[in-house]
Amino acid sequence: MSSLLVSALRDVVGAAHVLVDADVRATYETDWLGQTHGTTPAVVRPGSAQEVAAVLGVCAAAGVAVVPQGGNTGLVGGSVPRGGAVLLSMQRCSSLSTVDTLSMQVTAGAGVTIEHLQQHARAAGLDFAVDWGARATATVGGAVNTNAGGSRVVRFGTMRAQVMGLQAVFADGSIVTQLEGLPKETAGPHLPSLLVGSEGTLAVVTAARLRLVPWFRATAAALVACDSLVDAVSLLPQLRQLPNLDAVELLMPEALAIACKFLDVRPPVAPSSAGAFVMVDCAAHHDPTDELASLLANERGVLAVGAQRDLLYRIRDHVTIAIGALGVPLKLDVAVPVQHLDRLVRRVTAAVPGDARLVIFGHLAEGNLHVNVLGAGEAAPLLRERVLEAAIELGGTISAEHGIGVAKADWLERLKGPAAYAALRAIKSALDPTNLLNPGVLYPDLPTRHDPQPRFT
Ligand code: MLT
Ligand code: ZN
Repeated sequence: MSSLLVSALRDVVGAAHVLVDADVRATYETDWLGQTHGTTPAVVRPGSAQEVAAVLGVCAAAGVAVVPQGGNTGLVGGSVPRGGAVLLSMQRCSSLSTVDTLSMQVTAGAGVTIEHLQQHARAAGLDFAVDWGARATATVGGAVNTNAGGSRVVRFGTMRAQVMGLQAVFADGSIVTQLEGLPKETAGPHLPSLLVGSEGTLAVVTAARLRLVPWFRATAAALVACDSLVDAVSLLPQLRQLPNLDAVELLMPEALAIACKFLDVRPPVAPSSAGAFVMVDCAAHHDPTDELASLLANERGVLAVGAQRDLLYRIRDHVTIAIGALGVPLKLDVAVPVQHLDRLVRRVTAAVPGDARLVIFGHLAEGNLHVNVLGAGEAAPLLRERVLEAAIELGGTISAEHGIGVAKADWLERLKGPAAYAALRAIKSALDPTNLLNPGVLYPDLPTRHDPQPRFT
């Protein structure tokens, strides 16, 4: 990388926050599961929106694209640097305001981890509702940019439902700060909502004003063993009647077996004894064990409270890492209307080559499946095509919570249709006319005026 560009970046963020050493860069250049690899000439770690704006100015002048990154727990290659782009690590934007118990809100920097945010909220008797296995590393900025979901969407919605306001820096260096957190406002389109799920292509999110929820300390879970996926889906109306329903997760037998083996624990129910497992969680201010016990009166399964519930969550939280320990999977995050889940799984299963290993789990209430195929080999591109095609044909989506990234960018227009895609592309072009921010993500056909290599000499 040009020494002029490095020195200009150092002037902005300080020498300690421009990382050019190859070993240090390496941890930012590959995603956590080893699915996507890239290269960056420098990792820049700004500490404020003003520093982000100045970094964007330097990169724009040098003709170098910018890829924002949070905890690097993405699953679609959306935050891995490509073609020599500068990697903008947001981890130093990690301030946290005092919890506002009057409005039940908090302001968090983009680099705050989900786990730290939850701990901060709980210290004030509240909780942050979006939760998933990578909580210790995943960040607020990444969650905003992918509209993250996780296990509690059935009760509290996705990240979009938690974002009351944002601070963000646009490609031209202008900073928008809307962190008041007004619960009601009808003054034109809501800019923060537009940025949620935009995967770092419209602006760099530096902070978020977030809704908090009550902290339900009394919990009880159950692992229900169903004969088939159809039976699992047919449990939903009954589950939705539970007054304190907090999560409805799906574990197909292979996923349960792999996670238990990885953790070296005995499965709570033998994986081979069922066709699908539903993990149900209830959380309340008063012990919800009885509501779940009455569910199990008619179903096969185990009730899990205290340490047993912790174990169920440990198993659920480790499925991804357990699959990753067996190899780099073809991983697809699709969702269909729940009544079509079984048809989707049948189509996926039929497409998987005989020598590959299919591991499915996900979020049952949202019809959201994480399809993982180990050992797909050369069949992977066709398999990807079949799975995404099936999801669209069944009225679903090719991404429910992981984003589009680069992995599925070729499919966005097909999913959205030409009119909607053109509208989204027009917004991108208006806000970032030179395609400085995260080129290649979401809009693969959009040219970038920023070269892989800096023009400074
Ligand atoms: C999960 O639900 O555990 C995450 O979305 C991660 C994954 O799909 O692997
Ligand atoms: Zn998930």
